[in-house]
Amino acid sequence: MESFIQISEKETDRPFWILRTEHTAYVLEVDAQGWVQHVYWGPRLLLDSDYRVAVASGPRVWERPTGISREEFPAWGDPKYGEPCLKATFADRTRAVVLQYTGYEITTEDDLPVLLVRLTDPHYGLEVHLHYRVIPEFDLIERKAIIVNGGDQSVMLEHILSAAWNFPLREGYRLKTLGGMWGSEFQIQDIELPIGQQVMESRRGHTSHHANPWFGLDCGATETHGEVWFGALAYSGSWKFTAERNAYGRVVVTGGVNDFDFTWKLDAGESFETPVFVGGFSAAGYGPASRSLHGYERAYVLPNAKPRPVLYNSWYVTTFDVNFENQRDVAAVAAEMGVEYFVIDDGWFGKRKNDYAGLGDWTVDRDKFPDGLNPLIDYVHDLGMQFGLWVEPEMINPDSDLYRAHPDWVFYFPNRPRTELRHQLVLNMAREDVREHIFKALDDLLTEYDIRFVKWDHNRSYSEVGWPEAPEGRDREIWVRHIRGVYDIFRKLRANHPDVIFESCAGGGGRVDLGIMRYTEQFWGSDNTDSSDNLLMFEGFSMAYAPLTKMSWVTEPDHFSGQRPTPLAHRFLAGMLGSLGVGAELTKWTPEQRAEGQRWISLYKDIRETVQLGDLYRLRSTRNGPLAAFQFVHPTGQESVVFAFLDLAHFGPYRACLLLQGLDPQARYRIDGQDTVMSGAALMQGGVQITLNGVFASQIIRIRRED
Ligand code: GLA
Repeated sequence: MESFIQISEKETDRPFWILRTEHTAYVLEVDAQGWVQHVYWGPRLLLDSDYRVAVASGPRVWERPTGISREEFPAWGDPKYGEPCLKATFADRTRAVVLQYTGYEITTEDDLPVLLVRLTDPHYGLEVHLHYRVIPEFDLIERKAIIVNGGDQSVMLEHILSAAWNFPLREGYRLKTLGGMWGSEFQIQDIELPIGQQVMESRRGHTSHHANPWFGLDCGATETHGEVWFGALAYSGSWKFTAERNAYGRVVVTGGVNDFDFTWKLDAGESFETPVFVGGFSAAGYGPASRSLHGYERAYVLPNAKPRPVLYNSWYVTTFDVNFENQRDVAAVAAEMGVEYFVIDDGWFGKRKNDYAGLGDWTVDRDKFPDGLNPLIDYVHDLGMQFGLWVEPEMINPDSDLYRAHPDWVFYFPNRPRTELRHQLVLNMAREDVREHIFKALDDLLTEYDIRFVKWDHNRSYSEVGWPEAPEGRDREIWVRHIRGVYDIFRKLRANHPDVIFESCAGGGGRVDLGIMRYTEQFWGSDNTDSSDNLLMFEGFSMAYAPLTKMSWVTEPDHFSGQRPTPLAHRFLAGMLGSLGVGAELTKWTPEQRAEGQRWISLYKDIRETVQLGDLYRLRSTRNGPLAAFQFVHPTGQESVVFAFLDLAHFGPYRACLLLQGLDPQARYRIDGQDTVMSGAALMQGGVQITLNGVFASQIIRIRRED
């Protein structure tokens, strides 16, 4: 452990910490004023003394009296004008926080080294504990802050972020972010960072389709070259990142809980813990940056990294009109094609004939399933599949028994309308009675029925986020208490039902983040199932999130983008980029289509470990040309799979040479269907020739190691 966190106090009597990962170093120090300052973040340097040179050459800000500030956790009050991590009001109305270094500790958490640095406000006793957990094998540092009120009066926190990340002086910083909207989530944006502040945020109460809490910072890096700093926030409520560059060349990214309309009353002795903000550095472009996050998620964030099953989902086929007969019919075809989990989406509960009614009443609709769900579940089991169900626990239709009984259980303000979106309101999970009710409803459901998969949906952003019954001064805590309440329900359900797989969905990819990932195996990435659009969404999604967490269904081609004529092969191959599902009208498929589907699913099961647990290399993007290509390498290196997609028709056959990555240059490989053996070096330097012909042509290439 000593080798990952090293402290030197020799020369100055002030700590100088070097946090080491396998390839990087993150260095901070206490300066002469007792402020904790950032020193260095980048590749490991040979000598410890090298890092001190970085202090001298780093960008400066002429703000505080000493003239230098690169604080790890700036608090607002004295002369500094960038985004603070902490702003608070004390009981006597003082609004300036002073944080002085008061000690440190080196501990472990899950066998990983942790540096804990303590800062204290000398007058009011407010403490901030900065946590740095080092993840050596993935070159990542997890940061969070715990604010402890060590004084004897309440403090009102008004702005409390997880971290400020400082970057070295460079020319031409560029910022990468993920933006989008419903149906086109995870679009990569790339801008030159101007002087000023860029804000990426959600004020919607959930992560959002419009922006995702991930960033990349580089000076012109590609997938394989250039320095990249990146980070992702583990939080599913309203969040905020700022990326700020000033004319001195200082670049800082901050992030955490959104301060918009938010305050938190910290009584004497209480503490507030921020979400984790994980950050990393890659010396060789965005490919390694993403693989670091993917590996970290599989090892440290996800509830498990077991291969995900192939599932069928009813939504685009039967929508709200699910019943025993129509589900039974499609289940038989799905099983024949190799589907492993059969999932009924919306429509099975309450009075859910459409989206005007039923949310909140989590009991089986006996009109649709007269004998409950068991006859269907038994049938699904007999076909060799597991059974799954859709729920939307945080939401409620005013037309529901639950709302009629408890109209005060939702977000609302007195004397104001309760604005419905998709005819629904949001249950206030900050309230314990609401949490308990919803937990019990779900727990009962999972206890009564043999359900092994839950798709947990969330179909509206918040408005009128009021909590009139909150204790005095605590109503704005609702933003954080609500999402903590949701996490709490997940935690308890997972403990009681460890064999259930959970999928996070929010009208598609509106709640994809490292916070909810702790409780859910996978995400429904988008309601847009067009396989060509999916290539772009997968590319953006995979900047931050591991492929196995992205569920994609093969549907009929016209469900979203208006009749784009993607062939079945294109739809299946695009669906295999991550976790594969089927949501098509299988009972209407011809025997030939079913046989083709069966072949694709069987191939997918063969390569699933490589795709889900292996390393991803993004070879080509339809952002830059007509071809998208992705390569996966099995964790053992024994197999690699390449997917190539031609976006539209081209002028005749489209020929390309794909330079593979991640192979052993010294090893021998054989491409399936070819006799020639090639070295890894040849496949990476000379590449694989492909020819794609026709509208939405696609190809899969399997490569196996020979020795
Ligand atoms: C959301 C989801 C869909 C489906 C519907 C059901 O839009 O993203 O997949 O579950 O809700 O109402």
